[in-house]
Amino acid sequence: MAILKIARMGHPALGRVADPIEDPTAPAVRQLVGDMVETMRDALGTGLAAPQIHVCRRVVVFFVSADRTDGDAGGDEGVPLTVLINPRIEVLDPRPELGWEGCLSVPELMGEVPRPQAIRYSGLDLAGAELVREAEGFHARVVQHECDHLDGILYPQRMSDLKRLIFSSEMRHLAPAAENPEEI
Ligand code: NI
Repeated sequence: MAILKIARMGHPALGRVADPIEDPTAPAVRQLVGDMVETMRDALGTGLAAPQIHVCRRVVVFFVSADRTDGDAGGDEGVPLTVLINPRIEVLDPRPELGWEGCLSVPELMGEVPRPQAIRYSGLDLAGAELVREAEGFHARVVQHECDHLDGILYPQRMSDLKRLIFSSEMRHLAPAAENPEEI
């Protein structure tokens, strides 16, 4: 495994539609996922998509720490490290929910992004087994953010009010209720 350089906004790798993985059990995919996890952990992120390490394939890794969630809300709880290959998202509740996001490919910034509140997502794991989950809240947000990377979309493109794109270091000027964002 290796800690790899993370592509930043403007690099062409972040603007492409990534290609599907044909064989999720291939050793090269295991290697790719290992590098992604190590790179994500080193950068203190909560998720990473393969295009962020310049590999334009449909693979994401993420986790959700329990203190980032609502706890009581169904579908919004801590999630262990998850590998999703060729993921798909189905929107269960399209009503937009605003939440703050950061991105390892858009360093030092954060933005308030509307996202559908509830989703069902699916994908393959490294054994080629199908994983299906329903998610709400921050969990749903992380998955949508990561899967957007596979379609060449960065979170500022999802924003409805660019006044809410700010430097993280200026976050203290936000209302006290603002959540602490994490680098997704
Ligand atoms: Ni990101």
